[in-house]
Amino acid sequence: MTSILFAILFYFATLVFVVGMLYRIGVYTRTPAPLKIPTTPAPATTGGVVLRMMREVFLFESLFKANLWTWGLGWLFHASLALVLLRHLRYFTEPVWAWVALLQPFGMYAGITMMLGVAGLWARRIFVERIRYISTPSDHLMLVLFLVIALSGLVMSFVVHTDVIAVKGFVLGLMYFDWQSLPSSIALYAHLFLVAMLLMIFPISKLLHAPGLFFSPGRNQADNPREKRHISSWARLMESNDAGKAK
Ligand code: HEM
Repeated sequence: MTSILFAILFYFATLVFVVGMLYRIGVYTRTPAPLKIPTTPAPATTGGVVLRMMREVFLFESLFKANLWTWGLGWLFHASLALVLLRHLRYFTEPVWAWVALLQPFGMYAGITMMLGVAGLWARRIFVERIRYISTPSDHLMLVLFLVIALSGLVMSFVVHTDVIAVKGFVLGLMYFDWQSLPSSIALYAHLFLVAMLLMIFPISKLLHAPGLFFSPGRNQADNPREKRHISSWARLMESNDAGKAK
């Protein structure tokens, strides 16, 4: 019975996540950027913008310049999360890809650094008065969600092991519509329930900064207003209408 409930929950959560993200990204794509406003100093060429964006995505460059502590904790959390998620690919593919197998030990310890990163970011929201003042319940909620997901995962990795072969059977079963049951484990139930919550909250949460970064005019524009006129499509349309009237 629990397995059936989890199967339904995961199908539903995945649907909400995929539709929600497509909708959000669609809105971001259609949102006009009428002004030329790259945060200066900014690169003057498209190649330069790509490079700047990569530095932002992989190194969190602007955060590095803004606050070293937040940068350190944020980077530790995100880099560890990436490793943890790559390690989790073993539940989704059979056979497991060689590079995923190679990552396994790193991914396991990344669970610990991920938790340290989130704990540090949460401590910042609680103990730095200026930050506590501007923190909303949802800021706390997202951090606690990641913290408990990491904690329940680490409990399974280091304290009460679960039957990971059966977990993989369950996940592959969901993907290929050949349903299998989940091993019974409180830590696993908590882990999976919270992951499903995370998937559903993602498209309505601050976590949208992940796709949002790519749509940020301050980051994705080149500093070339003289070389190339910046005009949005609707403004161009207005111009050509005016020109038509003048004739
Ligand atoms: C359907 C999705 C997921 C499944 C089936 C799953 C399952 C598991 C299992 C079985 C373990 C224990 C591994 C072991 O005993 O070696 C684990 C560990 C862990 N999980 Fe997940 N998990 C999922 C999603 C996530 C997500 C989205 C996150 C992070 C946001 C996450 C974070 C962790 C962490 C930090 C650990 C401990 C470190 C490790 O062993 O990798 N999990 N997960």
